[in-house]
Amino acid sequence: MKILVVGGGGREHAIIKKLRESRGVDKIYALPGNGGMKDDAECVAIAATDLENIKKFAVENKIDYAVVAPDDPLVMGAVDMLTEAGIPCFGPCAAAAQIEGSKIFSKNLMKKYNIPTAEYETFDDCGKALEYLEHCNMPIVIKADGLALGKGVIIAQNLTEAKEAVKEMMEDGKFGRSGSRVVIEEFLEGPEVSVLSFTDGETIRPMISSMDHKRAMDNDEGLNTGGMGTIAPNPYYTKDIADECMEKIFLPTINAMKAEGHPFKGCLYFGLMITKNGPKVIEYNCRFGDPEAQVVLPLLESDLLEIMQACTNGTLSQTKVKFSSSSACCLIMASKGYPVKYEKGFEIEIENEAKPYVYCAGAKLSEDGKLLTNGGRVLGLTAVRETLPEAIKAAYALSEKVHFENAYFRHDIGSRALKAYREA
Ligand code: AMP
Ligand code: GLY
Repeated sequence: MKILVVGGGGREHAIIKKLRESRGVDKIYALPGNGGMKDDAECVAIAATDLENIKKFAVENKIDYAVVAPDDPLVMGAVDMLTEAGIPCFGPCAAAAQIEGSKIFSKNLMKKYNIPTAEYETFDDCGKALEYLEHCNMPIVIKADGLALGKGVIIAQNLTEAKEAVKEMMEDGKFGRSGSRVVIEEFLEGPEVSVLSFTDGETIRPMISSMDHKRAMDNDEGLNTGGMGTIAPNPYYTKDIADECMEKIFLPTINAMKAEGHPFKGCLYFGLMITKNGPKVIEYNCRFGDPEAQVVLPLLESDLLEIMQACTNGTLSQTKVKFSSSSACCLIMASKGYPVKYEKGFEIEIENEAKPYVYCAGAKLSEDGKLLTNGGRVLGLTAVRETLPEAIKAAYALSEKVHFENAYFRHDIGSRALKAYREA
């Protein structure tokens, strides 16, 4: 089979490496992929958002199955377009991808179907939003409605910061049209858990839980990033919490999407906070998380392509989805200065013994075939071991086997999880 994967980051590299283990896969194309994937897929220089050319490529190359991984093409309707062209696809249609594409859509869905989440109000008028803030307890959370590269969430500590955030989004257009409408919501506290799930719209199969580390610096300081590292499983996600999530969050969400006429097929990501009043939804994503995929997929023991096809065909209830009982840790090697300003173009050296455990993200090949840094998050180093402490130690050991100038990584990936692991 010829498979096409849309996207070009570490998450896509993890999907591609896993798909290579699937039965029946002969060839994988990555659109656009990146230079660090060249041994695993043929990279074709078509942007993930260039839907017309993606479709053209897929039809001309007689692609048997496509996986659309990033949020933008999903929200733009890549799956609808490929499906209409006769190419079966993994991922939600545009109507279902709204669950991530519009925070107002997802908040209203949760309210209508009694799915636990932070209390909130939505606004399309700046004056009304500012007036509402006068009556809020602090801290308060302000979210741009649309996609904003994970940066459209501001946690304001006081009224001045809150008003500033609303004005930046609604008046100054900091996130373009994404910020013309905002959600203002209650600040929740507790450990965060990411649960990715496979679903065909009827059946839902949660994957192994994970924990992301979104802030740029140690001790969760600095700016929010796309994610600086992950561990799996997440020790805060106990069997009792998992059961409660299934009953109060996962099944109700799948059923709500069906009832609204947009059954969700693909990977539905639940960003959860375990509050003292139980688990609550912080956000939904319509796709695999990055770098959650880099710890979850290496632990998948079942055939990924078979599961993906079952999501498309509606046969997930008859398909095996099994995870290893081991643990994984992914450490992101970033360019110093990420997520604000950083230099690119430094040569990346990966020692041979580390190569199988490296997922490439912001990397490209030079004309003479050297691998160069080309983005903020450059590499993800994933170690799988029997226990969490071993996996974390091994991921840090991998960092000594990859080299590039201005490399930056956090030194405390997994340390909060280790605390819970030791107390359990
Ligand atoms: P999001 O892009 O919605 O995942 O938000 C980014 C991060 O902001 C989350 O991972 C949380 O750490 C934090 N956050 C979002 N919403 C809330 C909330 N209601 N209360 C506390 N923290 C939040
Ligand atoms: N790591 C968080 C995300 O992919 O949205």
